[in-house]
Amino acid sequence: MFKKILCAVDGSEHSLRSVEVASEMAEKFGATLTILTVAKPMKLSPKLKEFFQSESLMGEATYVLEPMTEGVLDEAKKRAKSRETVRVETVVLEGQPARTICDYIKRTKVDCAVIGSRGLGDLEAALLGSVSHKVTSLADCTVVVVK
Ligand SMILES: Nc1ncnc2c1ncn2[C@@H]1O[C@H](COP(=O)(O)OP(=O)(O)OP(=O)(O)O)[C@@H](O)[C@H]1O
Ligand SMILES: [Mg+2]
Repeated sequence: MFKKILCAVDGSEHSLRSVEVASEMAEKFGATLTILTVAKPMKLSPKLKEFFQSESLMGEATYVLEPMTEGVLDEAKKRAKSRETVRVETVVLEGQPARTICDYIKRTKVDCAVIGSRGLGDLEAALLGSVSHKVTSLADCTVVVVK
């Protein structure tokens, strides 16, 4: 039924649970699993920028992000690893999360996207985070929202 499953992770417990669901689905359907995280370019205060420049750490804008992004993907891969038969690839993109996820789905013909209902935000009143709300509305594939 599904051949290409995408799981979008932001490091939150919800998104890591969605990796477990996605990897089990990938195993059942014989699908490939892509774990995608969208990194936001960091906004630095002028003082912090000065510090990074003086330490020559500003060469690439992604320098500050990388360790964090890597951590998110490592954790996600660990959760997916219990399913040894599943082929897992990881992708890092930069930009606005919901739009970037939807563009990736369209561009690479993802059949099914698996995401958490909530993420790292702390808006307890909302049932769905803004990224899960937008992706379920705008993605042109089946979307599974993991609670
Ligand atoms: N930067 C991201 N990269 C990849 N997936 C993401 C990203 N942000 C969110 N997601 C996915 O969307 C799910 C829901 O997160 P979302 O950001 O919508 O909730 P939230 O952080 O609680 O709310 P908000 O961001 O609106 O304050 C996550 O569990 C994850 O699957
Ligand atoms: Mg969020």
